[in-house]
Amino acid sequence: MTETLFSDRTVADRTLACEGATLEYSDAGRTTFALRDVSVTLPPGKFYGIMGPSGSGKSSLLYVMSGLKEPTGGSARFGGFVYNRNTETAVTDLRRTRFGFVFQQPFLLPYLTALENIVVAAPLPDKAAQEKAMRLLAHLGMDGLENKQPSQLSGGEKQRVSVVRAMMSDPDVIFADEPTASLDRKNGFRVIEALAGWRDRGGTVVVVTHDGDMLAGADTIIHLRDGELTDEGDK
Ligand SMILES: Nc1ncnc2c1ncn2[C@@H]1O[C@H](COP(=O)(O)OP(=O)(O)O)[C@@H](O)[C@H]1O
Ligand SMILES: [Mg+2]
Repeated sequence: MTETLFSDRTVADRTLACEGATLEYSDAGRTTFALRDVSVTLPPGKFYGIMGPSGSGKSSLLYVMSGLKEPTGGSARFGGFVYNRNTETAVTDLRRTRFGFVFQQPFLLPYLTALENIVVAAPLPDKAAQEKAMRLLAHLGMDGLENKQPSQLSGGEKQRVSVVRAMMSDPDVIFADEPTASLDRKNGFRVIEALAGWRDRGGTVVVVTHDGDMLAGADTIIHLRDGELTDEGDK
């Protein structure tokens, strides 16, 4: 079942990797290493967790791996596509077509319905997109809520809308930065379950969290501390 979703893409190798990635910030003469010499390889079709305390570099690693932020040393790539060897336009285009993003807050437009919020963000906001959004919503237990406005939805429901929105382009990778941080545990697990479902369809899922319980179903957990990989190793 993965073939139908992912076989016709131009970047054939869907492995995410960074090699010696360092991200250094200089503020008023003070240097902070958000990442220090991080090398990881993430083969496709798995659910990865990135874990660590606040300030350990989790978001930085997600931004570097998704091409949102250029490392100050080393490199990151998606298959053979090395971000810092390409133009910003090419990287943006890759991100738009191949990656989906979920953040801590769902960022829904308040004057649109759940369905409209999803469809306006689709690559082609047509009838087919609408039907696809309805199918995905139903799949996540959200049927009947498509015409509600964000103010009429719970936090967990809003976040699942943002998960569906991220799935509309059939992304090779969904990156989620603390997607459950504003939710109670029950709703947190439902959002994680929705994301893990993408792995089960052959996609890669990368979830940043400081809550290890949310990663019980992950294939591999990357542990960070002070911007460095720790040797807690794989799960
Ligand atoms: N724009 C920035 N300027 C300076 N320091 C930053 C900036 N962004 C992040 N940092 C620092 O980098 C480190 C890692 O940040 P971050 O990746 O956001 O960690 P986490 O997501 O694990 O909380 C922290 O010490 C943070 O203060
Ligand atoms: Mg963060």
